[in-house]
Amino acid sequence: MQFQNDLISWFAAEKRDLPWRRTADPYQIWISEIMLQQTRVDTVIPYYKRFIEKFPTLNDLAEADEQVLLKQWEGLGYYSRARNLQAGVKEVAENYGGIVPDNRKDMSSLKGVGPYTAGAVLSIAYGIPEHAVDGNVMRVLSRILLIEEDIAKPKTRKIFEEAVTEIISHEDPSSFNQGLMELGALICTPTSPRCLLCPVREHCAAFDEGKQQELPIKSKAKKTKSLQYAMVAIRNENKLLMEQRPATGLLANMWQFPMLETAADVLPLEIEEQLSESLRGIVNKAEKITSFKHVFSHLTWNVDGFIADSENIVAPAHMKWVTAEELDLLPIAGPVQKMKTALQQRGDV
Ligand code: ADE
Repeated sequence: MQFQNDLISWFAAEKRDLPWRRTADPYQIWISEIMLQQTRVDTVIPYYKRFIEKFPTLNDLAEADEQVLLKQWEGLGYYSRARNLQAGVKEVAENYGGIVPDNRKDMSSLKGVGPYTAGAVLSIAYGIPEHAVDGNVMRVLSRILLIEEDIAKPKTRKIFEEAVTEIISHEDPSSFNQGLMELGALICTPTSPRCLLCPVREHCAAFDEGKQQELPIKSKAKKTKSLQYAMVAIRNENKLLMEQRPATGLLANMWQFPMLETAADVLPLEIEEQLSESLRGIVNKAEKITSFKHVFSHLTWNVDGFIADSENIVAPAHMKWVTAEELDLLPIAGPVQKMKTALQQRGDV
């Protein structure tokens, strides 16, 4: 089919030299595909390189300490990806003799592996003609095939998967799928697609009808919820009190400065009172040092950052006193990093 040839030839000539394109190791390709979900290529590259250096084989990751893993992932966001990835990798080590499965059924049964990831690993690492449809591929195909279904609806992806199953190259499924991804990244971009440079313009139904700017159809997501917190750096001599989040839910097992859900404009005095009571020791001299917003995928945190002094309180369960050096080893998420930076700028850590 001419469309396949044009796409694959263009990919061969124009593809970016990305680190995960220099390996055929299914484990390493799996890592890259997980990191690339919701995250830009430029952001992923240094993380991917460090990660592969630290955990070069599937067994290295299967045996890794979870806190060390989360520290490697720090700053990439969506930390459940890292935890699920390790759970999936452990299943492969235990149930598949350390060999990443080469069929969709087994691959999809692994923790954290959805239809997209399964198809990406199967096609790229094993050369199997399986669909790998993510938001970028839906955008590209909505234009080429003039598909006017709402891509924000979960049901819609199936339409695109069926389309790929029909048109995927059986000679080079890897280049076909990556060609669609690359086209989405370099040419068939969300706004102002570069149709005049497009290698498959002749095959594009949207271009033919002048509809490329109107596609894909994507309904707006509803507004995300907002929560208000105080995040408090509690100091005693040269140590800070840190709190580990619960083992499930948002930012599971990651560390933070102790947090209180508050009203907006909470006063330092109220912070002192609440903390003194819950920690059973005197916390005083609270002072607001920063204020910021952090947007997660379905949730926004509005955070007021405080610093406060305390007595040498016995750390409650899930908390510990740490030095500045120990703090640097704890996995922390974006909002906690913002607070840490504010403290560093003041010379407090
Ligand atoms: N996005 C998702 N998978 C990708 C890949 N293999 N190369 C480039 N961008 C991608």
